[in-house]
Amino acid sequence: MTVPVNATLRVLAIETSCDETAAAVVGDGHHVLSSVVSSQTDIHATFGGVVPEIASRAHLELLGPVVKEAMDRAGVAPGDLSAVAATIGPGLIGSLLVGVSAAKAYAWSWGLPFVGVNHMEGHLHAAFLEDPALSLPTVVLLVSGGHTLLICMQAAGQTARDGGVDGRGDEVEYRLLGQTIDDAAGEAFDKVARFLGMGYPGGPAIERAAIGGRPEAVAFPRGLAGSGFDFSFSGLKTSVIRYMRANPDAPLADVAASFQEAVVDVLVTKAQKAAAEVGAKGICLGGGVAANTALRERVKQICTQNGYAAFIPSRAMCTDNAAMIGAAACYRLKADGPTRLDAAVDPNLRLPLV
Ligand code: KG4
Ligand code: ZN
Repeated sequence: MTVPVNATLRVLAIETSCDETAAAVVGDGHHVLSSVVSSQTDIHATFGGVVPEIASRAHLELLGPVVKEAMDRAGVAPGDLSAVAATIGPGLIGSLLVGVSAAKAYAWSWGLPFVGVNHMEGHLHAAFLEDPALSLPTVVLLVSGGHTLLICMQAAGQTARDGGVDGRGDEVEYRLLGQTIDDAAGEAFDKVARFLGMGYPGGPAIERAAIGGRPEAVAFPRGLAGSGFDFSFSGLKTSVIRYMRANPDAPLADVAASFQEAVVDVLVTKAQKAAAEVGAKGICLGGGVAANTALRERVKQICTQNGYAAFIPSRAMCTDNAAMIGAAACYRLKADGPTRLDAAVDPNLRLPLV
């Protein structure tokens, strides 16, 4: 079954792939009627990272109230919905199971289609929520705790420089340009923050610590600079550790600012080169690390300098949320129809790449 392209779609979406319990109601892929996120950060902070078993138990407790609040805030009843969606992977298996089982149960009991959504496709669609006019092809820098991907988002069949079709009327394709060969960018922030005793999650902690620091104070390495579009962050992490052991009294603000600068520099330089190579109309940010102010500012700057549109979602839409899952679900429902109720969660689910 496929849904007519012009139908009004109102989707209840659920996201429980990691440590945010989230639900949202999204209309037609870009109207956020409500978006509720209950973060478990405080629960996991004591352990310095996400504890999978604790995360699944917390999702079990939080999901019912979070879904109710999303429905109440949107002012909708089950009869007003067109489908129920949930993140089906990638993520922590126990956490995914809680959201997917609940979404299937709501869908079955309300007589609605279920849509299983790829978490990464959700991040890719976050920008559409705030900028439905986003033009393709666009280069997306997807930087989270688990992934660092440089992707060309293009209309189906659109080759690099054909100028193709704008917007999302046509099927969207994702072409992988580059990815990390070791640690993800967010993972590097988290590991370095942990080493520096700044707590969890590391990204916001390093960003705060870097305020007033000198980004040029320490020349940390730019992994794989100048060679293609892949990234490497594990050498940078080791370099920070070595530097601190050799300079235990170094000002933390300088070290944090220089580390942040090294990550931002390599991400933005490669995104800019990729945009030029594929003839992109814009550069888009996604994933938790995209909440970083230095990264956001640098992307805006290179877009202004080079004539690209900058698609930079609000911080709330960069970190994990269910509105982005609702946006991707509307698109998938129109393109592929509902997901079978016996579909399994997949902790290692990959993006459908061309
Ligand atoms: O997308 P996300 O919320 O969860 C997934 O990994 O899917 O991303 C979380 C990651 C963590 O590694 C966190 O440290 C990082 O995003 N992060 C940041 C900032 N806020 C979150 N990194 C740098 N600067 C930030 N302001
Ligand atoms: Zn994420």
